[in-house]
Amino acid sequence: MSDKFVKVTTPEGVTAELPVKEGVIGPPTFDVKTLHKQTGYFTYDSGFAATGACESGITFIDGEKGILQYRGYPIEQLAENSNFIEVAYLLMNGELPNKAEFKSFDEEITRHTMVHEKIRSLMKGFQYDAHPMAMMMSVIGSFAAFYHEGMSVDDAKDRRLAAIRLIAKMPTVAAAVYKNYIGQPFMYPRNDLNFTERLLHMMYGVPAEPYEVNPVAAKALDLLFILHADHEQNASTSTVRLVGSTGANPFACISAGIASLWGPAHGGANEAVLNMLGEIGDVSNIEKYVAKAKDKNDPFRLMGFGHRVYKNYDPRATIIRKACHEVLDDLGIDDPQLELAMKLEEIALKDEYFVQRKLYPNVDFYSGIIYKALGMPTQMFTVMFAIARTVGWVSQWLEQYETADTRIGRPRQLYTGPVTRDFVNIDKR
Ligand code: SDX
Repeated sequence: MSDKFVKVTTPEGVTAELPVKEGVIGPPTFDVKTLHKQTGYFTYDSGFAATGACESGITFIDGEKGILQYRGYPIEQLAENSNFIEVAYLLMNGELPNKAEFKSFDEEITRHTMVHEKIRSLMKGFQYDAHPMAMMMSVIGSFAAFYHEGMSVDDAKDRRLAAIRLIAKMPTVAAAVYKNYIGQPFMYPRNDLNFTERLLHMMYGVPAEPYEVNPVAAKALDLLFILHADHEQNASTSTVRLVGSTGANPFACISAGIASLWGPAHGGANEAVLNMLGEIGDVSNIEKYVAKAKDKNDPFRLMGFGHRVYKNYDPRATIIRKACHEVLDDLGIDDPQLELAMKLEEIALKDEYFVQRKLYPNVDFYSGIIYKALGMPTQMFTVMFAIARTVGWVSQWLEQYETADTRIGRPRQLYTGPVTRDFVNIDKR
C-alpha cells in the first residue's frame, strides 16, 4: 500500500483523505472505500468506465498502447510460441509449466472431458433450433445438479477440481450443442487427440466413419482460444466475480458468465459481425452502412468495432486478421467477406467519426471469418468464445478466493424515483 493520499473537499466543505492504491503497472487508483463514511458522498460511474472492482495479477491491458499480457507474457509471444492448454496452465497457476507439469495438466484435462450420461439426455431435450448459447448456459448451470463433490467453494482442492472440470467439459457440451442443432448423434471425446483436435472431432465426426482432423483447423482454433482466454475485468468476467463473491457454486458462476458473454455488445459481437457483413453484402454498400453507424438516430453500430479499454488497435485483432489470410489460404478458401471486412476497416479508419472516437477493430471483427472457414454456423461463434474464456473465468474466480480484499459485490445507486409518499386506497385513486 502506498503512503500517498488524495484530499477531496465536498461543496459543504468536508474534506476526505483517500489513500492512493497502486498496482505493479497501470494507472494508480483512489481507494474510495471510506469516502461515504468521511463525507456522506458515494462515487458514481455508470458502466464502471473509471472504477477498479478488484486486484488481479492475471491479465494486464494498456488500452492506449494496445498492449495485452497474460501473467506478464505479451499476447503476441504466446500466440506465436504457446498453445491453449499451456496458456490455461499459465492463467490458472501464474507460471508457464515445465514439460512434466504440462503433461500432467494436459492429462488431467483429458481425463475430465466426458460428461454425466444424464447431461447428454438433458441436452437431447432441447429443440433442434435452440440457440447454442441458450443451451450452453443452461447445461453448464445444470452441472451444479450433477457434480456435488466438487462444489465446496471453501475447499481449495474442490475449487480447482471444478475449474478443471469446466475447462475440460465445455468443448464436449459445445460439440453436443452443435450436434443437437444439426440433428446428428453426439460424439464421445477421444483421449488420443489434443484439446482442439478433440473438439473438432466431436463436432464434425460421425459414428458411421472415421474422421481425420485437419491440422490447419486445429491450429487455427488453438490460436483463437489463446487470444480469447482472458481479458481482465470485462463484462462476463466481472459477472463471474460478482456471482462468485456471494459464495455461489462455480457452475452457477460460469453459467452466469456465459449469459453475460452472449450479449451482442460483448462476446455475441462475433456472430453479429458476420450477420452485419451479410447485410452489407457488397463493398458498394459500405459507405451507406458507415453513415448508419455514425447516425445517432440509427441503432446500427459497426459490430466488431470499438472497445471500452482499447483506444488503439486491439492486438488480438491484428493477430487474427493475419491468421485469416493464412487459414483461408491453407484451406484453399476464397471468402469475399474477408475482403469486405478489410475494405470496411480501411474506410472506417479513415473516417473522422471513428478516428476522433478512437474506434478500432476489436477481437470480434475478424474471428468469425475463421470460424466460418472451419465450417461453423454463426450461432456457434460465441460458443467458441465461451470455451476459451472459461479458462479466464475460472482463473479469475479462483484468484478471488485467494485475494484478501474480497467482499460480496454490492454497488450503490443514485436514486431518481419518487420521494416518500403515503399509500392511497384504490377507491381513492
Ligand atoms: C468484447 O471489455 C472487454 O474486454 C470485452 C472483450 C473481451 O475480450 O472480453 O474485448 C470482448 O466484448 C469486444 C467488444 C465487442 N462488441 C462490439 O464489437 C459491439 C460494437 N461496439 C460497441 O457496442 C462499443 O464500442 C463497445 C460496447 C464495445 C464499447 O462501448 P463503450 O465503451 O460504452 O463506448 P461508448 O458506447 O461510450 O462509445 C463511445 C462513442 C459513442 O459515440 P458518442 O456518444 O461519443 O458520440 O463511440 C461510439 C458511441 O456511439 N461507438 C460506436 C461504436 N462503438 C462506439 N459507433 C459506431 N459503431 C460502434 N461499434
